[in-house]
Amino acid sequence: MDTARISIQDQEVDCPVTVGTEDEVAFDISKLRNTTGAITLDPGYANTGSCESGITFIDGEKGILRYRGYSIEDLAEHSSFLDVAYLLIYGELPTRDELDAFNLEITRHSLLHEDMKKFFEGYPASAPPMSVLSTIVSSLSAYYPSGNSDEEVNLNIIRLIAKLNTIAAFSYKKSIGQPYIYPRNDLSYAADFLHMMFAVPSEEYEVNDLIVRTLDMLLILHADHEQNCSTSTVRMVGSSGADLFSSISAGIGALSGPLHGGANTEVINMLEMIRQDGSNFQKYVAKAKDKNDPFRLMGFGHRVYKNFDPRARVIKKTADEVLGQLGIDDPLLDLAKQLERIALEDDYFRERGLYPNVDFYSGILYRAMGIPTNMFTVMFALGRLPGWIAQWVEMKNDPKTRINRPRQVYTGYNHREYIQIGRRANQN
Ligand code: SDX
Repeated sequence: MDTARISIQDQEVDCPVTVGTEDEVAFDISKLRNTTGAITLDPGYANTGSCESGITFIDGEKGILRYRGYSIEDLAEHSSFLDVAYLLIYGELPTRDELDAFNLEITRHSLLHEDMKKFFEGYPASAPPMSVLSTIVSSLSAYYPSGNSDEEVNLNIIRLIAKLNTIAAFSYKKSIGQPYIYPRNDLSYAADFLHMMFAVPSEEYEVNDLIVRTLDMLLILHADHEQNCSTSTVRMVGSSGADLFSSISAGIGALSGPLHGGANTEVINMLEMIRQDGSNFQKYVAKAKDKNDPFRLMGFGHRVYKNFDPRARVIKKTADEVLGQLGIDDPLLDLAKQLERIALEDDYFRERGLYPNVDFYSGILYRAMGIPTNMFTVMFALGRLPGWIAQWVEMKNDPKTRINRPRQVYTGYNHREYIQIGRRANQN
């Protein structure tokens, strides 16, 4: 099957078929409009591929997620976040020397320019952390010119990975009125983040190794996920030639939405609401099924996974282990498990392939680490950064890349004659 034939009224066009390395089949419609005058229409792009990519593979039916061919389960168990970041961005797992050099580079670039602290001062304590993150990332373009050579792009990649950690922690400290804690070169990426978040000048803060390992694993699980909403945004903005910082800033904005990265925050808010309502699960399951009720079971459902999200499985297992080891008895964990069980016994969810996604249990772990709910989506952005970067670089280097400019089907007025202001019927 090397072509797919599309026939519209009296027109026919043969579209070349592309088959991926995991036997995914697509047909290229680049000639469709020029040949037939017609376009396709696919709201939400559920059936439309925007690119060919070699970074992440997802099989939604089998619950498979692989970064550059390595399974998410193996990476979560054996790798580290910077090891995975290197893999996603440069395509191969680093040697020990390569990882040490990458680590050192990132450590050396973790400071923010002192003038950038003034940006934080202008925000009220109530400023949404994702808005702060997006703005400060975009402002990096003012301090670090976006060169186009591989060396300049790579230096900005290192700067961004290093500084996002610091920007996230500084935004938290600003929101609680505490002094900023500067990054330390003797701590790992995850440990340094926790130290910047929770240390105070007046006392020693020892990072807890179990929490460091758990955070590092959560960052790995969030690192990439093929052409999701925020990654597609990063690619779209970058396709115009916009620099890395501007493209990532746009991705942060897309991720902040409650249907995407903002869901981890909404899950905890939902579980708290159900708990305060006497854990009346049936009521909320019924609301989620009711077409006339805007309520959705947050953390449930996925555009691609129709059986289970492999990340949710790892996170649920880790939540049991970590809360047990920390001696934390979080009622929301039991509540979440009960809600999952009840929902998955219900045909409505099973028929639609609605299962817990990455956001359903992740908030339980962030809570156990002492991370406040309004910072959960920032944690998602920290994890997703290397994936966004890898996808942006792949887009930039792909000879097939053109500026993204979708078409539309116009449904407005046909041509109308202009009416002078005094003669307009709808004006009093
Ligand atoms: C992420 O794309 C990615 O890869 C994203 C992500 C990543 O790593 O980047 O995995 C991260 O964003 C995970 C998703 C986090 N969002 C949520 O948990 C919010 C709750 N979930 C939904 O809003 C929804 O499931 C989406 C947004 C995740 C997926 O939406 P789709 O694919 O557009 O599906 P849909 O809205 O068309 O729903 C299909 C049906 C509908 O019912 P019918 O019209 O067929 O009767 O399922 C129903 C929906 O009403 N449905 C839900 C539901 N999700 C879908 N009903 C109740 N509760 C839900 N959560």
